[in-house]
Amino acid sequence: MTADLIHIEWTDKTGAPLGLSEGTPEDSATLMEMYDTFTLKGMYQGLPPIEPDARAQWVAKLLRTAENFLAWDGGQVIGHAALILDKERNDAEFLIFILSSHRNRGLGKKLTQMAVEKARKLELKAVWLTVEAFNFRAVSVYRKCGFVFLDTGEPERHMRIDL
Ligand SMILES: CC(C)(COP(=O)(O)OP(=O)(O)OC[C@H]1O[C@@H](n2cnc3c(N)ncnc32)[C@H](O)[C@@H]1OP(=O)(O)O)[C@@H](O)C(=O)NCCC(=O)NCCS
Repeated sequence: MTADLIHIEWTDKTGAPLGLSEGTPEDSATLMEMYDTFTLKGMYQGLPPIEPDARAQWVAKLLRTAENFLAWDGGQVIGHAALILDKERNDAEFLIFILSSHRNRGLGKKLTQMAVEKARKLELKAVWLTVEAFNFRAVSVYRKCGFVFLDTGEPERHMRIDL
C-alpha cells in the first residue's frame, strides 16, 4: 500500500476490521491473488477474465489507468472497485468485485460510496454501469448509493448516477 493515498480503517457488519485504500500499480500482485481465488470467474459480463494472462492484463490495465479502491483483510485484498474514466465524456464506468467470503457484510455499499465520492471530487458529471437483471444484490447496492435505471432491458440493465 502506498502511504500518501487514502487508507482508512473500517468495520464491517460482522464487526470485522478491514482496511480501505486507493489502489496503485504496486498492488498488482495482491490484487491478482484476489482474482485468482475469485469464484465464479467470467460470470459478470465475462469478468473477471477466466484465462490467467487475460486476467493479469486486465488487472494491470485497471491499476494503471483507472481509479481503484481496495478492501484489505490483513495483507490480503478481498474487495476491489474501479472507476474507468472517459475524459472526453467526463464520466466513468463503475465495476466492483468482492470475494464471496466477504459479501453481504456492507463492503459493497462502502466501496461504491467511496467511488462515488471520488467521482464527485474529480468533478465527473456521471458514473454509469451495466448489471445483469438477476443480480439483485448488486442492484440493491447500486440503488442505495443513488444509481437509477436508464432502461428496463434484459439480461443486462444500465444504471447511472448523475453527480
Ligand atoms: C454485488 C456485490 C459487489 C455487493 O457487495 P456486498 O458487499 O455483497 O454488498 P453489501 O453487503 O454492501 O449490500 C448488499 C445488500 O443487498 C441486499 N441483498 C442481498 N441479497 C439480496 C437479494 N437476493 N435481493 C435483494 N437484495 C439483496 C442486502 O440485504 C444488502 O442490503 P442492506 O445493506 O440494506 O442490508 C458483491 O456481492 C459481489 O462482488 N458480487 C459478485 C460480483 C458482482 O456481482 N459484481 C457486480 C457486477 S455488476
